Amino acid sequence: MRVLVLHGPNLNLLGSREPAIYGTTTLPEIDRSLASLGASLGASVECRQSNHEGVLLDWVHQAAESFDGLLVNFGALSHSSLALADALRAVPLPCVEVHLSNIHGREPFRQLTHTGAAALGLVSGFGPDSYLLGLRGLVDHLGRQR
Ligand code: DQA
Repeated sequence: MRVLVLHGPNLNLLGSREPAIYGTTTLPEIDRSLASLGASLGASVECRQSNHEGVLLDWVHQAAESFDGLLVNFGALSHSSLALADALRAVPLPCVEVHLSNIHGREPFRQLTHTGAAALGLVSGFGPDSYLLGLRGLVDHLGRQR
Protein backbone atom coordinates (compact mmCIF):
# COMPACT_ATOMS: atom_id res chain seq x y z
CA MET A 1 0.00 0.00 0.00
CA ARG A 2 1.37 3.38 -0.99
CA VAL A 3 0.02 6.56 0.58
CA LEU A 4 0.74 10.10 -0.61
CA VAL A 5 0.46 12.75 2.11
CA LEU A 6 -0.10 16.31 0.89
CA HIS A 7 0.31 19.33 3.16
CA GLY A 8 -0.91 22.69 1.88
CA PRO A 9 -0.05 26.34 2.52
CA ASN A 10 1.64 27.47 5.73
CA LEU A 11 1.97 23.96 7.14
CA ASN A 12 5.73 24.21 6.56
CA LEU A 13 5.64 26.73 9.43
CA LEU A 14 4.28 24.26 11.98
CA GLY A 15 6.26 24.40 15.20
CA SER A 16 6.37 28.19 15.29
CA ARG A 17 3.05 29.09 13.62
CA GLU A 18 0.32 30.04 16.13
CA PRO A 19 1.42 27.39 18.63
CA ALA A 20 -1.65 27.96 20.84
CA ILE A 21 -3.75 26.59 17.96
CA TYR A 22 -1.42 24.26 16.09
CA GLY A 23 1.01 23.16 18.81
CA THR A 24 4.79 22.99 18.58
CA THR A 25 5.29 19.81 16.58
CA THR A 26 7.10 20.53 13.31
CA LEU A 27 6.15 19.22 9.89
CA PRO A 28 9.25 17.00 9.60
CA GLU A 29 8.30 15.46 12.97
CA ILE A 30 4.78 14.75 11.69
CA ASP A 31 6.19 13.26 8.49
CA ARG A 32 8.52 11.00 10.46
CA SER A 33 5.69 9.77 12.69
CA LEU A 34 3.58 9.04 9.59
CA ALA A 35 6.39 7.05 7.97
CA SER A 36 6.90 5.09 11.17
CA LEU A 37 3.17 4.32 11.65
CA GLY A 38 2.88 3.49 7.95
CA ALA A 39 5.73 0.98 8.23
CA SER A 40 4.02 -0.73 11.18
CA LEU A 41 0.76 -0.90 9.18
CA GLY A 42 2.42 -2.20 6.02
CA ALA A 43 2.10 1.03 4.07
CA SER A 44 4.77 3.18 2.48
CA VAL A 45 4.20 6.88 3.06
CA GLU A 46 5.52 9.77 0.98
CA CYS A 47 4.97 13.31 2.31
CA ARG A 48 5.02 16.53 0.29
CA GLN A 49 4.22 20.15 1.14
CA SER A 50 3.50 23.09 -1.13
CA ASN A 51 2.27 26.65 -0.68
CA HIS A 52 0.97 26.65 -4.27
CA GLU A 53 -2.49 25.44 -5.29
CA GLY A 54 -1.36 24.49 -8.82
CA VAL A 55 1.43 22.30 -7.50
CA LEU A 56 -1.00 20.53 -5.17
CA LEU A 57 -3.40 20.04 -8.12
CA ASP A 58 -0.65 18.48 -10.23
CA TRP A 59 0.29 16.12 -7.40
CA VAL A 60 -3.34 15.02 -6.98
CA HIS A 61 -3.67 14.45 -10.74
CA GLN A 62 -0.51 12.33 -10.88
CA ALA A 63 -1.13 10.42 -7.67
CA ALA A 64 -2.94 7.43 -9.19
CA GLU A 65 0.19 6.56 -11.19
CA SER A 66 2.15 5.72 -8.06
CA PHE A 67 -0.14 5.65 -5.01
CA ASP A 68 -3.19 3.83 -3.63
CA GLY A 69 -4.56 6.57 -1.39
CA LEU A 70 -4.26 10.20 -0.36
CA LEU A 71 -4.01 11.77 3.10
CA VAL A 72 -4.39 15.53 2.82
CA ASN A 73 -4.37 18.70 4.85
CA PHE A 74 -4.78 21.50 2.36
CA GLY A 75 -4.78 24.16 5.11
CA ALA A 76 -6.79 27.25 4.18
CA LEU A 77 -7.28 25.91 0.64
CA SER A 78 -9.66 23.34 2.16
CA HIS A 79 -12.10 26.20 2.69
CA SER A 80 -11.68 27.91 -0.65
CA SER A 81 -10.46 25.60 -3.38
CA LEU A 82 -13.19 24.20 -5.60
CA ALA A 83 -10.37 23.19 -7.95
CA LEU A 84 -8.78 20.88 -5.38
CA ALA A 85 -12.20 19.46 -4.46
CA ASP A 86 -12.87 18.75 -8.14
CA ALA A 87 -9.42 17.17 -8.49
CA LEU A 88 -10.12 14.80 -5.59
CA ARG A 89 -13.36 13.78 -7.29
CA ALA A 90 -11.58 13.34 -10.62
CA VAL A 91 -8.98 10.82 -9.46
CA PRO A 92 -9.82 7.22 -8.58
CA LEU A 93 -8.11 7.26 -5.18
CA PRO A 94 -9.65 7.29 -1.71
CA CYS A 95 -8.74 10.42 0.22
CA VAL A 96 -8.84 11.18 3.94
CA GLU A 97 -8.67 14.83 4.99
CA VAL A 98 -7.15 15.87 8.30
CA HIS A 99 -6.88 19.09 10.29
CA LEU A 100 -4.80 19.70 13.39
CA SER A 101 -7.41 22.04 14.84
CA ASN A 102 -11.12 21.37 15.22
CA ILE A 103 -12.33 23.41 12.25
CA HIS A 104 -15.92 23.14 13.50
CA GLY A 105 -15.03 24.96 16.71
CA ARG A 106 -13.35 27.88 14.93
CA GLU A 107 -14.43 30.82 12.75
CA PRO A 108 -17.46 30.20 10.51
CA PHE A 109 -15.34 30.43 7.34
CA ARG A 110 -13.28 27.43 8.52
CA GLN A 111 -16.31 25.26 9.16
CA LEU A 112 -16.91 24.58 5.46
CA THR A 113 -14.36 22.37 3.77
CA HIS A 114 -14.83 21.90 0.02
CA THR A 115 -12.07 19.32 -0.14
CA GLY A 116 -13.38 17.51 2.94
CA ALA A 117 -16.73 17.12 1.16
CA ALA A 118 -14.89 15.28 -1.61
CA ALA A 119 -13.03 13.02 0.82
CA LEU A 120 -13.87 9.58 2.13
CA GLY A 121 -13.60 10.85 5.69
CA LEU A 122 -12.25 13.63 7.85
CA VAL A 123 -10.33 13.82 11.14
CA SER A 124 -10.12 17.20 12.86
CA GLY A 125 -9.01 18.49 16.22
CA PHE A 126 -6.45 16.00 17.52
CA GLY A 127 -3.33 17.98 16.70
CA PRO A 128 -0.62 15.89 15.02
CA ASP A 129 -2.57 12.76 16.00
CA SER A 130 -5.19 13.77 13.41
CA TYR A 131 -2.68 12.68 10.77
CA LEU A 132 -2.02 9.34 12.49
CA LEU A 133 -5.74 8.64 12.98
CA GLY A 134 -6.37 9.58 9.37
CA LEU A 135 -3.62 7.27 8.15
CA ARG A 136 -5.06 4.38 10.18
CA GLY A 137 -8.50 5.01 8.68
CA LEU A 138 -7.15 5.20 5.16
CA VAL A 139 -5.03 2.05 5.48
CA ASP A 140 -7.98 0.14 7.01
CA HIS A 141 -10.13 1.28 4.08
CA LEU A 142 -7.51 0.25 1.51
CA GLY A 143 -7.16 -3.12 3.24
CA ARG A 144 -10.88 -3.74 2.92
CA GLN A 145 -10.75 -2.90 -0.80
CA ARG A 146 -8.17 -5.60 -1.52
C1 DQA B 1 -5.77 23.69 9.30
C2 DQA B 1 -7.04 24.53 9.53
C3 DQA B 1 -7.17 25.60 8.47
O1 DQA B 1 -8.32 26.39 8.71
C4 DQA B 1 -5.97 26.51 8.46
O2 DQA B 1 -6.07 27.45 7.42
C5 DQA B 1 -4.70 25.75 8.37
C6 DQA B 1 -4.54 24.57 9.22
C7 DQA B 1 -5.56 22.68 10.42
O3 DQA B 1 -4.80 21.74 10.21
O4 DQA B 1 -6.11 22.84 11.53
O5 DQA B 1 -3.76 26.14 7.67
O6 DQA B 1 -5.93 22.97 8.09
